[in-house]
Amino acid sequence: MKRIAIFASGSGSNAENIANYFANSDSVQVALIVANNPNAFVLERAKRLGIESVVVTKDEFKAADGLITTLHEHNIDFIVLAGFLLLVPAKLIAEYPGRIVNIHPALLPKHGGKGMYGDHVHEAVVAAGDKESGITIHLIDENYDQGTTFFQATCPVYPGDTAHDVAEKVHALEYKHFPRVIDEILQQL
Ligand code: GAR
Repeated sequence: MKRIAIFASGSGSNAENIANYFANSDSVQVALIVANNPNAFVLERAKRLGIESVVVTKDEFKAADGLITTLHEHNIDFIVLAGFLLLVPAKLIAEYPGRIVNIHPALLPKHGGKGMYGDHVHEAVVAAGDKESGITIHLIDENYDQGTTFFQATCPVYPGDTAHDVAEKVHALEYKHFPRVIDEILQQL
């Protein structure tokens, strides 16, 4: 059984979707949810789903040691960032080399980097007049949004689309593809 931890900072709709996808799996279990904000709605979802959760402060996350101990205590093999906004420290990457994936709500290398998350990304896509957006599922390394890309999927952006319209299309792609791509990556580990 591969045990995964999902890190999320906010609503956690992707975390819930991934947890539901693996709910009846006999090879993968979502064993832990990690949030960096005690008020993040993902913690309510974790409770409802019966998944253990922990909250770490920004400083604890940066220091990494306590969190690494917690991940070991839960026998975590793989980490999924699903709407997680802090930069992953080198120590954690060294502990889980090639075993941390992120989803970015745009087609990297466009619209990535520090501060580019959630609605900011979709606003940037609309402001740039892009004709398409999408999702990028990639490995985490020490720079924001720069690790090896595993998978991209695109959606059209029409003239007149708002950032909210783009967000809806991108969320649909996330729900459709993210769990399946995680499953494929895990099968190759
Ligand atoms: C998702 O769209 C995810 O791609 C994005 O945050 C949203 C979280 O939604 N992640 C980033 O912007 C990371 N740079 P959710 O909390 O409902 O899953």
